[in-house]
Amino acid sequence: MCGIIAYAGSRSCTGLLYQGLRKLEYRGYDSAGLSVLVDGSIEVVRAVGNMDSLERELKGNGHADARLGLGHTRWATHGRPSSENAHPHSDCSGKISIVLNGIIENYAGLKEKLAREGHRFTSETDAEVVAHLIEKHYDGDLLEAVRRTYADIAGHFAFCAIHSGHPQMIAGARKECPLLVGVGEEEVFVASAIPAFLSETRDVIVVGDEELFVATPGEVQVLDLGKKRLDREITRVNWDVGAAEKSGYETFMRKEIYEQPDALIDTIAGRMAAPGQVVLEEMLVSDEALAGIDKVYIVACGTSFHAGMVGRYVLEDWARIAVELDIASEFRYREPVLSPSTLVVGISQSGETADTLAAMRQARRMGARVLAITNIMGSQATRDADGVIYTRAGLEIGVAATKTHLAQIAAIQLLALKLAQVRNSLGPDAIGAIAAEMKTIPGLLADYLKNESATHEIAKRYYRQPFFLYLGRGVGLPVCLEGALKLKEISYIPTEAYAAGEMKHGPIALLDKGSPVVVVATDGHVYEKVVSNIEEVRAREAAVIAVATEGNEGIKAYSDDIMYVPRTSEMLSPLVSVVPLQLLAYHIAQLKGCNVDQPRNLAKTVTVE
Ligand code: M6R
Repeated sequence: MCGIIAYAGSRSCTGLLYQGLRKLEYRGYDSAGLSVLVDGSIEVVRAVGNMDSLERELKGNGHADARLGLGHTRWATHGRPSSENAHPHSDCSGKISIVLNGIIENYAGLKEKLAREGHRFTSETDAEVVAHLIEKHYDGDLLEAVRRTYADIAGHFAFCAIHSGHPQMIAGARKECPLLVGVGEEEVFVASAIPAFLSETRDVIVVGDEELFVATPGEVQVLDLGKKRLDREITRVNWDVGAAEKSGYETFMRKEIYEQPDALIDTIAGRMAAPGQVVLEEMLVSDEALAGIDKVYIVACGTSFHAGMVGRYVLEDWARIAVELDIASEFRYREPVLSPSTLVVGISQSGETADTLAAMRQARRMGARVLAITNIMGSQATRDADGVIYTRAGLEIGVAATKTHLAQIAAIQLLALKLAQVRNSLGPDAIGAIAAEMKTIPGLLADYLKNESATHEIAKRYYRQPFFLYLGRGVGLPVCLEGALKLKEISYIPTEAYAAGEMKHGPIALLDKGSPVVVVATDGHVYEKVVSNIEEVRAREAAVIAVATEGNEGIKAYSDDIMYVPRTSEMLSPLVSVVPLQLLAYHIAQLKGCNVDQPRNLAKTVTVE
């Protein structure tokens, strides 16, 4: 969704801001802009559409002397995508410029009041009120004006402000939306996500929730809402700069699909050190406390929800514990039954998804213990949880989640093993055997990806089809749901994904001669049942595309096309069976000429409800 980058220092900053915005593109946006201080006044350049439109606006107008500025990518919420609604926004005098992520919930009343007081608004956005509030409160002290503005506004947001009277200063605040300060040599960056400044500095200070900051090239202050200065250490980020580049791949999504063996290796590393012992250090829940847990409640959205659904099967199977699962946007408006012995697990790649965060907070308020599974260190989810299991998938740029999904599955499998350990539902030998098998999967996947060509051929045969049905049973169900989501989000082909046993209760009516039906039919205790469902599909002359376990020759009699995956035990099979479905979606989208990295209407990080 929206992205922020700001700079103060000794270098010419228009290019730095522009590059920063390019690095934030993956989050999704529909307009972009920047404001820079040139010869004592702030100049604003904005454009609707992608960064190429902004680049055209900037042509011949490089503002080479600018040393202070703000940049923003906007994903429209209040007000359509237009250059007037694009950020940065200015106050009436044009001396103040702001960029904001999130939503100001009480903006309508504030706007009306400010208008009555004589402020002139030029956009339909909620964000513009922040520029006018800072103007109203400013009496020479930008930080104080930011503090008073913060007190006026409600919602969830992060914003940065500059003032032409303070040529080296960026000030701002955050509530629930992230803001990070990148500290360089006599220069400072502020951004909503680290990739925006990663090529310039790896030294990061996190602005905490409900905190203010003021940054100049020589000093960064983080303060509480009473302006008391807080101690904040600089953290060195070890992300690879190349992670934000395509490294020779045609798209980020393809690169990230091929990075999955490494994402798995890193997520597992060091966590199954001693035989039969699972170590999850950042989880911060003692074995005794964990042994007292009698129910696990998983909440998440989208692809993370599908990882959570795999979690339900493995937690029940290995840890023999009751599991509930809900979409975060539903959970937050229900009255779920939770207690201190419930472990609520919020799964979020970004750690910023508004609904997942709200569900986690609600669970905490209701007395449950809350755990976050996230890929982003220091993200809001880590602050709203009692403990964390980090997926260590590295930066994911493609809007369609792939490698982070696999890492999420591994993370929840580790949690299931840990619970199995403390609950004695599996002995050390059984845990050791599963752990040993998990460690083999990155190698199996790497070999599979090296020799993979079937999915491209299958994609060529079916990419013109108007509809795909996906079927799965057991742990194959979340896999088929995820495969269908991948296809619809990047190729825009309508899909339906169903529990195979439910097909005859409705979706079978959709089938016609030649309709493609993707069936997850890997080996496992429900395999024969899945074959029966395949028979039902074939009886309607639909085309069966099966995901099957290597060596299963029998499936050839029931399928038009087969995507073989390496043999694993049943509960670990989603780690391999989802990969051909990612690739199938990828190839179909490519054949249709879609932008797989930035599908229409989608944002990588959904920070609004
Ligand atoms: O950052 P999160 O994992 O919380 O994001 C949840 C969903 O928005 C995300 O998985 C979405 O469904 C992706 N587009 C899937 O590819």
